[in-house]
Amino acid sequence: MWYSKIFKNNTKWIKDKVENDPDYFSKLSLGQKPEYLYIGCSDSRVSVAELMGIELGELFVHRNIANIVVTTDNNINAVIQYAVEFLKVKHIIVCGHYECGGIKAALSPCDMGQLNSWLQTIRDVYHTHEEELNAIKNEQERYDRLVELNVREQCLNVIKIDHVQKAWINSEFPHVHGWIFDVRTGRLIDLQLDTRELYNDIKHIYDIDFK
Ligand code: CO
Repeated sequence: MWYSKIFKNNTKWIKDKVENDPDYFSKLSLGQKPEYLYIGCSDSRVSVAELMGIELGELFVHRNIANIVVTTDNNINAVIQYAVEFLKVKHIIVCGHYECGGIKAALSPCDMGQLNSWLQTIRDVYHTHEEELNAIKNEQERYDRLVELNVREQCLNVIKIDHVQKAWINSEFPHVHGWIFDVRTGRLIDLQLDTRELYNDIKHIYDIDFK
């Protein structure tokens, strides 16, 4: 069968894990205590655990096309609430990647059905940063910059979410980070965004008073 290799691989993987640590699965079944929530693209080349050298149980993950945080999306809200309130993750990472098909598609006028509304969020990012992006003459550089600006805007969307602001009342966590995975080199790049500074810029509009 076309998928039989997957089950063979799984059997081998279990064997390797148990050989290394006989209690691996009994420990794994006890629960999770991840310190990170990773929000990334669904792209099959962006295999999170592999590129970060992360073990099972260390990373809570949400993926969608072009790593978008839509603040009215029930899915992302539930993920963020659970990660922040119950798992008490210390870091939320929004990770984009160069050569992102979602970003490229958003810059094309093609009718893509359901994707039209989803990718509109990226068009909004382009609209917000139109002056900077239009000044970049090299098309590849313009795409790359849009990938970076999309991550920045999605980090802002993370901190607009009430669950994150609520957590900040009594704690400095979660810290919010913007990263890029460069599929051309395999390198992870930290955009070094200061999310508290970003928040201070928009606070007068987005702050929620929970008292
Ligand atoms: Co992508």
